[in-house]
Amino acid sequence: MARKPLMAGNWKMNNTYAEAVVLAQTISNNFDKHWTDSVDVLVCPPSIDLKPVNTVFEFDHQPIQIGAQNVYWEPKGAFTGEVSVPMLKDVHCTCSIVGHSERRGYFGETNEDVNRKVRALLDGGLYAVACVGESLSVRDEGGAEEFVCAQVRAAFAGLEPEEAGKCVVAYEPIWAIGTGRTATPEQAQDMCAAIRATLADMFGAETADEMRILYGGSMNVGNVEQLLAQPDIDGGLVGGASLKADQFVQLVKACL
Ligand code: G3P
Repeated sequence: MARKPLMAGNWKMNNTYAEAVVLAQTISNNFDKHWTDSVDVLVCPPSIDLKPVNTVFEFDHQPIQIGAQNVYWEPKGAFTGEVSVPMLKDVHCTCSIVGHSERRGYFGETNEDVNRKVRALLDGGLYAVACVGESLSVRDEGGAEEFVCAQVRAAFAGLEPEEAGKCVVAYEPIWAIGTGRTATPEQAQDMCAAIRATLADMFGAETADEMRILYGGSMNVGNVEQLLAQPDIDGGLVGGASLKADQFVQLVKACL
C-alpha cells in the first residue's frame, strides 16, 4: 500500500508573533508547491500564531497545512484558556495534535481526554494527529508495545473505520523527544508495525493500510532517510528540527 507521506512540524511553545511570521515566510520562500503532489506538509505553531502563519502560506499560495498542538472537546463555553474546534476551523486548521506526551505528562491529559478530542475534531470536519509513546522505564521493563497499543485503542475508541482512516498516529517514544537519542529504525519500525496491527484489529486491514503512522523523537536530517525507509513509517512529527526553516525543508524533501 503506497501511502502519501506526511511531514509535520510541532513548534511547541516557541516563536513570538514576529518570529513565527519570519519562520513561516522563510519556509515558504524555500518551498516548491509541487512538492505537495507527493508529500503532505503540516506546520503546528502555538495557537496564538495560527492565523499569522496561515496568512503567510495562503498569501504565497503554498499548500502547507496548519494544525493546532491541542484542542478542547467542547465547542464553546466557560473553559478558560482552552481553544475549540470551531476556532481552529475559523483560522483554516486541517487538524490538531492530541495526546502529546508533554500534555499527558505536564497537564494530566488522559487517554479518555484524547478520545474526546479525537471525536470533537472528526465531528467538526478536522482530523487528529494522535500521539502515543512509552517512557524509558516502560520500555526497559519490556512493556512498550502493550502500553503504546493500549493508547492507540483508547485514542480511537468508538470510531468508525472511515473516521479512523482520516486520522494520523504519531509514535513518539518519550525517551527520544528532545534528547537527541532517536529510536533506531528497527525500534521505530517494530512499534509502528504493532500500531498498524492494532489499527487493523480495530478497523480492518484496508483502513489500517491507509492510515499514516509518523515517527517523532529527535528526527533530523541525519536520520530521516533511514526512518522513512521503514515500511510502516509514513513521515515525521518533528520538534526541534522544525524550528529551523532549512532543516524542516530538508526533512520535507527527504519524503519526495
Ligand atoms: O511532537 C514532536 C516532538 O515531540 C518531537 O520533538 O524535538 O525530539 O523532534 P523533537
